[in-house]
Amino acid sequence: ARKLIIDTDPGVDDAMAILFAMQSPQLDVIGLTTTFGNVCVERATENALILAELGNSTAPVAQGVSVPLQMPPKPHAEAVHGDDGLGNIHWPASQRKPLSLSAAEFIIEQVRTNPGQVTLIALGPLGNLAQALTLDPQIADLVDEVILMGGAAQTFGNMSPVAEANIFNDPHAADQVFTAPWKVTMIGLDVTHQVLLTNTRLMRIQQNNPKIGDFLYRSAQFYIDFYRNLHGVDGCYFHDASTIAYALDPSLFKVEPAAIRVACEGIASGQTIVCPKGMSFPEPHWDNLPLVDVCMQVDSERMLDLFEQTLSQT
Ligand code: BDR
Ligand code: CA
Repeated sequence: ARKLIIDTDPGVDDAMAILFAMQSPQLDVIGLTTTFGNVCVERATENALILAELGNSTAPVAQGVSVPLQMPPKPHAEAVHGDDGLGNIHWPASQRKPLSLSAAEFIIEQVRTNPGQVTLIALGPLGNLAQALTLDPQIADLVDEVILMGGAAQTFGNMSPVAEANIFNDPHAADQVFTAPWKVTMIGLDVTHQVLLTNTRLMRIQQNNPKIGDFLYRSAQFYIDFYRNLHGVDGCYFHDASTIAYALDPSLFKVEPAAIRVACEGIASGQTIVCPKGMSFPEPHWDNLPLVDVCMQVDSERMLDLFEQTLSQT
């Protein structure tokens, strides 16, 4: 099975992604690393421990950064994910404890132990990945690939007209991750706003797999209400779990290679600026950058079927 480390700020849709991965026989979640984002990092760690236990996984949890690398912290997203980050269901705390290693140290240790075999899935602001790169730049060669949820290439953001939340919350970290010499796939709002997960599907999962299904259904209600009130849609956008679908079946997506830089200040802070493959500009910021695979389209029904089928297995 493919080895994954999931870097996360759980988060209702992070929880969907983590349980999706833990339920798939084709994936081996070897660890969860936590970051601030939807909630503070301590809460993210508590939630990651709950999810590892619920997903019947032995994956350890390593806590990571609590603030952005360079800029003052932004408010967390309790209005979207609830005070507990899991849709205000107040799930009992796990008895498990996090590792004493930091997230970045854990990532380096695992990548060095399993060269070429670890895929990093990033579901929150990118400070842990950036910190790992700073501590040990050679891991860029040793990671299989990075699949991240974040950014908006040709569509609007969700924190500002141009910025998506994960990138907005730590633009410097994101810029470092996009410009490092490793294979990165970006799944941003171009794709995730094409996909709506409905209660109909969540209720079928609940019927087939009551333990995990119950948690997912209950946790999603607050999140679905948020989207109903803000966007007038019936369901929730399929952000973080899209990365797991990509790890399982990249043929679900259409990608376009492009260099990405991130605006780190001013009114466009957090914007993912896209320079398509083959284009060149006089401005030197765009020279010799690695190409990122930017997901632009997805087979939405096939992806949701994969999610539902995987989570319906007991
Ligand atoms: C991203 O922001 C967070 O609120 C979600 O968990 C997801 O990672 C979507 O913009
Ligand atoms: Ca997230």
